[in-house]
Amino acid sequence: MDVLNLGMVGGGTVGSGVFHALQQNGELLACRIGVRIQVRKVAVKAVDEPRPYPIPRRLLTTDWRQVVEDPEVHMVTELVGGTTVARQIVETALRLGKPVITANKALLSAHGPELFRKAERHGTNLYFEASVCGGIPIIKALREGFVGNRIRALYGIVNGTCNYILTRMARDRAGFDAVLKEAQREGYAETPPDLDIDGHDAQHKTGILASLAHGIWIPPSKIRVEGIRSVSPLDLEFASQLGYTIKLLGIVKELGSADATDGETPLQVSVYPALIPSRHVLAGVQGVFNAVFVRGDVVGETLFYGQGAGKDATASAVLSDLADAALDLRFGSPRRRPAFVRQPNRVRVVPMDEVVSRSFVRLSVVDRPGVLARIAAVFGQAGIGIASVIQPEGHTGEIVPLILMLHEAPDGAVRRALGRIGRLPVVKAPPVRFRVESLD
Ligand code: HSE
Repeated sequence: MDVLNLGMVGGGTVGSGVFHALQQNGELLACRIGVRIQVRKVAVKAVDEPRPYPIPRRLLTTDWRQVVEDPEVHMVTELVGGTTVARQIVETALRLGKPVITANKALLSAHGPELFRKAERHGTNLYFEASVCGGIPIIKALREGFVGNRIRALYGIVNGTCNYILTRMARDRAGFDAVLKEAQREGYAETPPDLDIDGHDAQHKTGILASLAHGIWIPPSKIRVEGIRSVSPLDLEFASQLGYTIKLLGIVKELGSADATDGETPLQVSVYPALIPSRHVLAGVQGVFNAVFVRGDVVGETLFYGQGAGKDATASAVLSDLADAALDLRFGSPRRRPAFVRQPNRVRVVPMDEVVSRSFVRLSVVDRPGVLARIAAVFGQAGIGIASVIQPEGHTGEIVPLILMLHEAPDGAVRRALGRIGRLPVVKAPPVRFRVESLD
């Protein structure tokens, strides 16, 4: 059988997972694609570092150039992460005309357009299924499965760490800090955890999905991001009473049809914790699991669910890319159309201040006659309607929670009104606000 040699850069958690999966299912893969993929060398940080699956010593080197520049290596995996050395590795391989398979969403987010151009210039390709939602084949679904659809809306639970923390907070009524510490102890959250809990990992992934769905490169600077630090057990409890669950969502949503003057469709691309109806299928996604809900204009509603991270789920995505790269090398289209092609229906990312949504607001206020009237007056002056108000019984003392559900209003107007409310002397803590996504 035809053999292609693989050079691997990165032999840690994901890298050794890929090596192991190739050992386990290499035969099956070869049978299915008609090409055998053989690991020729693996570059690692240190030969003796502990790794979840062993890699034979004879394959190891600490010099990535020995792997990438080896003329016998036909394709390269970049599984080291980061954006500096990883960029050099990817660029070097592409310059040599070798297809690269990466799981590195931060690298794509920072340098995607240049890397894809470079791949095209050198007649090769960059494959990135593992960069978004680990084992869920969402990149392939958007590129291939939905090639005949306009993507009207995509909602993703794309960060397992945040979903785990929110699930535990809701289940155990525990505070954010305590759950985060426990998640770190149990290995579900990184130390430091900022990239995940401040929403940047989800921002990178959402940007990649939005770019694929709409054919323009959407840089992180255009994606509003808010993490989950501001979510408290009280918010989860009140949301639940109102029939909602709070999830960190990556949102890519058409906000209307193409503008008659410039022909561009307004698009929302953002990441924030949102209230979603508890009866919606996404609300049932628990723990470290990821899910992406996609609405296409032809297909209707679809849902993809699975492990978003971890050595084995990510290895599954890398193997899928290896198969594509091998087939492209052997039979065909190394110049397969690039991932981010301009589409006839152009989109314009709408600034968040203009995006209209409903809101859940939690205020900590002095329990005194007239307080509600003063707050309602600020919303009234801003033209923002109040849909319902809860001041729960049983909270005694000077400061009590006040929950308001607001009707649809532009984000900027809500932000400014809450700024004014936060400065009222009767409001004793910064207002907490989450948007409500009905997902329809
Ligand atoms: N840290 C990510 C998560 C996985 O928690 O989902 C890698 O993207």
